[in-house]
Amino acid sequence: MRNVNEKQLEIARKAIQKSVEKLHQKKAIQIESVDKTINSINFSTKTEPKSDENLLIVEAVPELLDVKRKIFAALNEQFKGNDSVIFVTNTSSLSVQEIGVKVGPQERYGGLHFFNPVPLMKLVEIIKNVTTSQQTVDALKEFVADIGKVGVLCKDTPGFIVNRLLIPYSGEAVRMVERGDATFEDIDIAMKLGAGYPMGPFELMDMTGLDTGKFVVESWLAMNDPTLNVQRSELVNKMVSEGKLGRKTGKGWYDYTKKKMRRKEGKQCGCQNPCPATCKRPKPPTCNSFWCNPNCYLVCSGGQVLDTKTGKCKPLSEC
Ligand SMILES: NC(=O)c1ccc[n+]([C@@H]2O[C@H](COP(=O)([O-])OP(=O)(O)OC[C@H]3O[C@@H](n4cnc5c(N)ncnc54)[C@H](O)[C@@H]3O)[C@@H](O)[C@H]2O)c1
Repeated sequence: MRNVNEKQLEIARKAIQKSVEKLHQKKAIQIESVDKTINSINFSTKTEPKSDENLLIVEAVPELLDVKRKIFAALNEQFKGNDSVIFVTNTSSLSVQEIGVKVGPQERYGGLHFFNPVPLMKLVEIIKNVTTSQQTVDALKEFVADIGKVGVLCKDTPGFIVNRLLIPYSGEAVRMVERGDATFEDIDIAMKLGAGYPMGPFELMDMTGLDTGKFVVESWLAMNDPTLNVQRSELVNKMVSEGKLGRKTGKGWYDYTKKKMRRKEGKQCGCQNPCPATCKRPKPPTCNSFWCNPNCYLVCSGGQVLDTKTGKCKPLSEC
């Protein structure tokens, strides 16, 4: 794993360690030990593979075309003469083809788009650039299956499959809030309970980062493609300028600085029905107001609360 300096490598190492520890504790991954797994990664400021054979190099640096191009130009130079190396970009919104203009072996170049949080998300979009060979696509499919993920194939088109649908969807959700049609909390609840989505559009925006969403919108607008259904949002731009980027800054649509308390109480209660701060109705005496307030959301009556895990109402005493 390569990064720009020791500080960034240490940040990355700590983040990976934390994630592996958590998954190990939950028995979500089968590994001998956390230390052994972490020690198997070579953290370096250079691209130093253990072997030059059957190499797959995944570029995942910030979403800046010039930076990505420079990296591929350097990698191309470093691995000149290696006729098995495959280069991929993890870009979410840029053109795979445009990023890879400096890659020599165009037939061994494409995209692998992972989803956040990568250890938990099964999907990987495999992007076939116009020049990517079938052999490379097959090798990428095999790699994706080997790491226990599910690959879907897509052409090099803006947003690929998932974001092509998600970005306009999130944009429309924001416009609903801007028009005052509904609150963001209610939209999240509606999409979870009415459309069966595991999280609402605002929870999702907070997870992926409002700056990332804004960036995608700007880059799509710059493409001048009438089939790309996006608009700028003043509200999102304001939130980004205030540093309300979502989970990573502690605040976005929701406030995560109170997360620990909410989690603990949520667990105790077993219900996940967040009560908006704007709710003026009386709070039930025995129920935590963050997670289950049946008076705020009239989805359950008679003092019952909604368990979003099962989608069923149950008595408060069963929480
Ligand atoms: N965040 C997501 O949810 C997500 C999901 C899928 C794909 N992606 C894509 O992954 C890429 C990275 O996104 P991110 O959110 O992880 O960004 P990030 O800013 O969190 O991380 C980028 C990392 O790249 C490092 N870096 C910068 N320049 C470098 C260089 N020259 N060489 C080596 N490392 C360098 C940075 O130090 C940083 O650790 C982007 O292309 C993004 O579109 C992000």
